[in-house]
Amino acid sequence: MKKLILLLLFGILCFDLSAQNKITLIADQAETQISKHIYGHFAEHLGRCIYDGIYVGENNTGIPNTAGVRNDVIKALKDLKIPNLRWPGGCFADTYHWKDGVGPKNERKPIENLTWGNVREDNSFGTNEFLNMCELLGAEPYLAVNMNTGTVQEAVEWVQYANHANGTSYLADIRKKSGREKPWNVKFWGIGNESWDCGGNMTVDHYIDLYKQYATAMTSYSNTEKLFRVAVGPGTPDYKWTEEIMKNIPARRFEGVSIHHYSVIDWGNKGSSSQFTDEEYFKTMQQAWRMEEIVRTNCEVMDKYDPKKRVALIVDEWGGWYETDPDGHGQLYQQNTMRDAMIAGLTLNIFNNHADRVRMANLAQMVNVLQSVILTNKEKIILTPTYHVMEMYKVHQDAFLVPVQILSNDFVMGDNRIPAVSASASKDQSGKLHISLTNIDNTKGQEVEIDLKGIKAKHVTGRILTSSKVQDHNTFDTPTNVVPKTFKNASISKGTLKVTMPPNSVIVLELGS
Ligand code: AHR
Repeated sequence: MKKLILLLLFGILCFDLSAQNKITLIADQAETQISKHIYGHFAEHLGRCIYDGIYVGENNTGIPNTAGVRNDVIKALKDLKIPNLRWPGGCFADTYHWKDGVGPKNERKPIENLTWGNVREDNSFGTNEFLNMCELLGAEPYLAVNMNTGTVQEAVEWVQYANHANGTSYLADIRKKSGREKPWNVKFWGIGNESWDCGGNMTVDHYIDLYKQYATAMTSYSNTEKLFRVAVGPGTPDYKWTEEIMKNIPARRFEGVSIHHYSVIDWGNKGSSSQFTDEEYFKTMQQAWRMEEIVRTNCEVMDKYDPKKRVALIVDEWGGWYETDPDGHGQLYQQNTMRDAMIAGLTLNIFNNHADRVRMANLAQMVNVLQSVILTNKEKIILTPTYHVMEMYKVHQDAFLVPVQILSNDFVMGDNRIPAVSASASKDQSGKLHISLTNIDNTKGQEVEIDLKGIKAKHVTGRILTSSKVQDHNTFDTPTNVVPKTFKNASISKGTLKVTMPPNSVIVLELGS
């Protein structure tokens, strides 16, 4: 008997489930569509993202490819339903001249990648290769215009090269000569990148004047859809920058404002990507939660000038950033653990819940750089824990947001506390309801009660991504260490959905009637 009591006590201590997590779904207010573009990606000429990670060359016989792009990467991205891809940078875009990367490959001008290690690139992956790849993936391209060492003319000509109908312009003729007859009709154009830093260290006033020059000249040709022009917003909580943009750029000259936020512990010592302490884990989660405040405050500023929410907030760089792994896999290469899965689950819930204003986001970066969904090593590939979260959450793409009210337990470390549970919910075109939940607390499980008032649901199914330690990850030898599994600890009774979440877990549920 004594043994039984001790065992029970042990069980309670080990799996300390707290019961104060309550979520209410406001089902009759599912009016805002969650743009699929929130689930976008970013690929920069940096380390082994483009060369090796995506593009291995048409003549590569060792790695199966389509027009030089790895087939395994194509398949993984298609499975993810990748909606858009930002390219060629980042800071790389701030010195990139697109004409260097078009025309016959053996005549292309090599460049030194000034931003990232001064490495020589042969420019074999340029505009045609990128836009054709997007077409293959069914993803919308999002091009970043060089506003630092580039010119307005160069930007105008890039739009013309990509979008002008065949035969009616000199640049369309050049495109035809390069083997591409039809225009690609690129809709998304970022005008500058981090213009307050690597993009020219500009003041906001200088940026605005220059932006207006670019945006005025970059015309959408009558044969194409209107361009969606994204102005550079702040990379830190510099809300004054956002305010000046909203106040001084005429409404007809921009469709979006971008912000960047990385979950970094300390820029001077970012810590290891896979060998980190509980304290470092907690700090990363604090940084990930900051996204909520940054998004909310930018939205408040934008609401003042644009109450109808015509201009979108675009988070075109986000993710965890640690020290480059010392194993020689390349610049800004980092392992991707359950910690990254928690950043992804939490951040995507934040974006979903702000879908009325956040209409595009781009995880940095897609392959082999920062918080990647894919890591490659020669012919091998890993789908990271972050990949699995993006894949589980794809049910929210273009679905209608069901607003949630959340009362969460705290995840506590010393005197610091942050909410442990985050959630978002949506109703898809066929009427199915999906709820995504994260428990970032790596020390405690959570009991969550979800009030289903007004929702006809009898059955619940789900998938979970979890692991015993937040440091757990996939390797090239053990690529399925961390993969989603069927989740059974959810049940519906008398209009309440009860979910038992293990520590550090991401769960996506589907409700059926
Ligand atoms: O994603 C890496 C770098 O981070 C990008 O080049 C830049 O825009 C940002 O500072």
